[in-house]
Amino acid sequence: MLNNKTILITGGTGSFGHHFVDYVLANYKPKKLIIYSRDEFKQFNMQNRYKENSDVLRFFIGDVRDGGRLRMAMKGVDYVIHAAALKQVPACEYNPNEAILTNINGAMNVINASLEAGVKKVVALSTDKAVNPINLYGGTKLVSDKLFCAANAYSGEGGTVFSVVRYGNVAGSRGSVIPFFQNIIDNGGKELPITDFRMTRFWISLEQGVELVIKALEESSGGETFISKIPSFKITDLAEAMLPGCEKKEVGIREGEKLHEIMITREDSLHTYEYEKHYIIYPHYNWWRDRDIVPGGKLVAPEFEYSSGTNTEWLSVEQLREKLLTDLDEH
Ligand SMILES: NC(=O)c1ccc[n+]([C@@H]2O[C@H](COP(=O)([O-])OP(=O)(O)OC[C@H]3O[C@@H](n4cnc5c(N)ncnc54)[C@H](OP(=O)(O)O)[C@@H]3O)[C@@H](O)[C@H]2O)c1
Repeated sequence: MLNNKTILITGGTGSFGHHFVDYVLANYKPKKLIIYSRDEFKQFNMQNRYKENSDVLRFFIGDVRDGGRLRMAMKGVDYVIHAAALKQVPACEYNPNEAILTNINGAMNVINASLEAGVKKVVALSTDKAVNPINLYGGTKLVSDKLFCAANAYSGEGGTVFSVVRYGNVAGSRGSVIPFFQNIIDNGGKELPITDFRMTRFWISLEQGVELVIKALEESSGGETFISKIPSFKITDLAEAMLPGCEKKEVGIREGEKLHEIMITREDSLHTYEYEKHYIIYPHYNWWRDRDIVPGGKLVAPEFEYSSGTNTEWLSVEQLREKLLTDLDEH
């Protein structure tokens, strides 16, 4: 579906953007891939990395806070992937206005520019932190998700289709627990600090995140939230996998941190369908009326919750060790 199409990726110089570009170039023949972000140096590095694809890649300097610039960038664009965000929890907590301007106002600008340019489909990236949010980052992403789902009401028959893809911390991503433990290990540490021995997380690779976005581009008809079915792991098992026999010290949960990641709430279960490899939460707006449930799914049980703490699929220490060799986001 992406052959001979023009795709714009806001935040295209980030971890997701790099993986998405790799994936699209390996599997399709797009007409143009437009990277939209602020920092010229990141764009310069990316341009060098993809020298051989200079006929396809375009680098557009712009801020998602700038609606006019987005409108200019979206002329002739078929698909938009909205990945630009401020996403560090402590930074968003300390700079709430900045988080709101990028994550909420930016989302509104992306929606308006897409509607105006007649973009076919827009997929916005969400996070587990938008589910029952306890920090400002999660709060802004919840608002962003709502904006993208509601935007379908404004696109009219045959107009732009907006959907959301939600996943949790990508294995190995900057600021996450794996590089944190690795740094201690590389410096000869024998003890790994664990915020809470009960803590669990989902395991997702960037590859799976990109595949879910492609699925959303293929299947969305407006307002859905796509969530991958992925395994869970205990943080204590991760510590064991990375440093066998290590001492583990419980240091207390941090501000804005949850014991378990939740992707689908009990309230969402009334509108959630299970598929072989993913779930879809359908919108519950009266304008939507069950019009396009993707075939092959089954409504989940009432009160179903998709949480890393009650997941049915778990990674053992051994499996974690294998995944650490194959799945890490090295960007
Ligand atoms: N990484 C994870 O573990 C994870 C997990 C769940 C969900 N997500 C979501 O996935 C998306 C992508 O994450 P990522 O890991 O690729 O993030 P990342 O590596 O931090 O990249 C963020 C990108 O956004 C750009 N950006 C930031 N502010 C911008 C603005 N105001 N206007 C235009 N571009 C801006 C950055 O470039 P400049 O600074 O040059 O503008 C960069 O290209 C985000 O929406 C995030 O919430 C990520």
